[in-house]
Order: sequence, then structure tokens, then C-alpha cells
Amino acid sequence: MSFTKPKTTIEENDTVILYLTVQSLHAIDVVPFIKNKKDELVENVFQTNYGALKVKDLIGMKYGSRVTLTKGWAYVLQPTPELWTQTLPHRTQIIYTPDISMILFQLEIKPGSVVVESGTGSGSLSHSFLRAIKPLGHLHTFDFHEQRCDIARYEFKMHGLNDFVTVYHRDVCTQGFTDELDGKVDAVFLDLPAPHLAVPHAMKALKNSGGRFCSFSPCIEQVQRCCETLEHNGFVEIQTMEILQVEEYVKTKVINVLDLDFVKTKKPDEAEAKDLKTPREQKKYVTTQAPFTMPGHTGYLTFATIPPLFAR
Ligand SMILES: C[S@@+](CC[C@H](N)C(=O)[O-])C[C@H]1O[C@@H](n2cnc3c(N)ncnc32)[C@H](O)[C@@H]1O
Repeated sequence: MSFTKPKTTIEENDTVILYLTVQSLHAIDVVPFIKNKKDELVENVFQTNYGALKVKDLIGMKYGSRVTLTKGWAYVLQPTPELWTQTLPHRTQIIYTPDISMILFQLEIKPGSVVVESGTGSGSLSHSFLRAIKPLGHLHTFDFHEQRCDIARYEFKMHGLNDFVTVYHRDVCTQGFTDELDGKVDAVFLDLPAPHLAVPHAMKALKNSGGRFCSFSPCIEQVQRCCETLEHNGFVEIQTMEILQVEEYVKTKVINVLDLDFVKTKKPDEAEAKDLKTPREQKKYVTTQAPFTMPGHTGYLTFATIPPLFAR
């Protein structure tokens, strides 16, 4: 599958990204037939604003090629964790790429890392963890919602990621992570309503030299409680940050060119000064401008470290 390695040709059961516009992308499972509401097997036809696509026609096509729809066309792309985050079916709130990039960087995730995550939710962050830890690492992901666990397992299997991930149906605040993981984990990530309750369990799971911790919380009260518990449990380097992505707009600006030589050599009298304000020459520049409004708060990221050789 192309989540695990690059591919040139689309095969049955691949997940592909149908790119219509920058704002309109869809993830499609390449299965020729699907069940309708009456539980009958029917041809899989995907509807878009540019018309319908018979999904079976994708089989054998090259990734990156243009596909004809009944009222237009689109591109079929290989899936990546970033495109999956943009297109996945939401079962919960998800973590988006600006936060994901900081999480991976701060948790020092690399090939071979052993990572614990809770909750699994819609698996948005999980896919980025998986790309970073393959081929030798492992993701242990926990959620107390059974159906979300089942769907996540199905999606990981469809994406060829089964060997690198284990999904646990478990309440991590009351039951913690499994005993087999004690002292073996490089990084713990929490996206929970009450992360402070899972902090002692994270402490148990993390390696006792330099293990990294992160919690994502929308509310500052959750952050405060989590920081207090982290400190109480012996974590150090406790740091909370918020990631705000600013998108600059490209635009053309017309700028008046002032006669600077004149200004430098002579102090202009009143009439000349007025005249100077009247532009003699104008130049056009392609430049950028910060947006007047921007997407606001998503959540706070709290990071912490277990000090080397911390005695539990
Ligand atoms: C916001 S979602 C996580 C989204 C995920 N980070 C993503 O990027 O797709 C939070 C998840 O935590 C799970 N959850 C909440 N409390 C939990 C607990 N005590 N133990 C395990 N899972 C829990 C919920 O069922 C939910 O699926």
C-alpha cells in the first residue's frame, strides 16, 4: 500500500486521494462494489461536484494521473499522513498538521521509537506517528470507545500499517497502559479530557532516562492541572505552547516612488513638499500580506521530560 512505500500503479483495496481543488480532496477506498442501505452489493460510484467516478476504473491507473469525471476531471494521488488528516472520516475532533509537526519534533519521534498514544480518536495523529517510527518502531494506541478502536484497526489494516501498531480498547485514566509497556516507551502522547489522571501511568510506561511526554488540551484549566501533576510526579522541562499558523496572501501592491535625491540635497519649501507628495512614478510589486483574521485557538501543547536515571 502506498501509506507504507511509494507505488506507481493503483491496485484494488488501495486508498487513494481524489484531488479536485486545493479545498476539495477526498479519500477513496478502491473497491469495485459496496453495500447500499438495503445491504445489496452495488457498483461503487463516487459522486463529486464535477460529476461521478466509477471507482473500479481507477484500478491499473498511474498515481498522479488525471481521471475523467462525468462533468470534469480530477487527479488521483498517493495518500500521505497530511492528506489523510485533510480527508479522513471524522469520528472525533482531530489533531491537525501544525500541531502534529511540533508534536513529532518535540517528542523526538524517529524510526524505531516506541510510542504510546491515547485516545486514538479518528487516527489523524496516529498516521503521522506511524510514518515516522517505521520500520522498527511501534505505536501502542488506546481508546475507551470500542467502535472507534474497531474502525481504527480496520483503517490501519487497509493502509498496510498493521505490523507497526496495536490498538487497545481500554480506559487509560483508570486502568493505565499495559504492564508489558512499563519502562519501555520513548514517548507518551495524550489527547484526553482529563490528562492529569493518566500522568502517573505515563510515568510508569516511559523509559526512565529522557522519556518525553506531550498532552494536547483545548482548555487552560486542563493544562494547569496537568502541569501540576507532571511536576508532582517528577517530570522536568515542563513547557506549554500554542501553535498558530499564519497564512500570508500573495498580492500585487502599487507603491509611489519618492524623489529621494531631491529630499537629500535640499530642504523643500512648503509648496515643493506638497508637490513631492504627488507621486511622479509608481511601481508594481508582487508581495505578501498577513491576513486580517486567522484561524484561532485549537489547543495547548504541554511537553515534559523524565530526568535521566529518575528513580521511580
Ligand atoms: C479528541 S479524540 C482524539 C483524536 C486523535 N488525537 C486524532 O488526532 O484523531 C479523544 C479520544 O479520547 C478517547 N478517550 C477519552 N477519555 C479516555 C480514557 N479515559 N481512556 C481512553 N480513551 C479515552 C475518546 O473516546 C476519544 O476517541
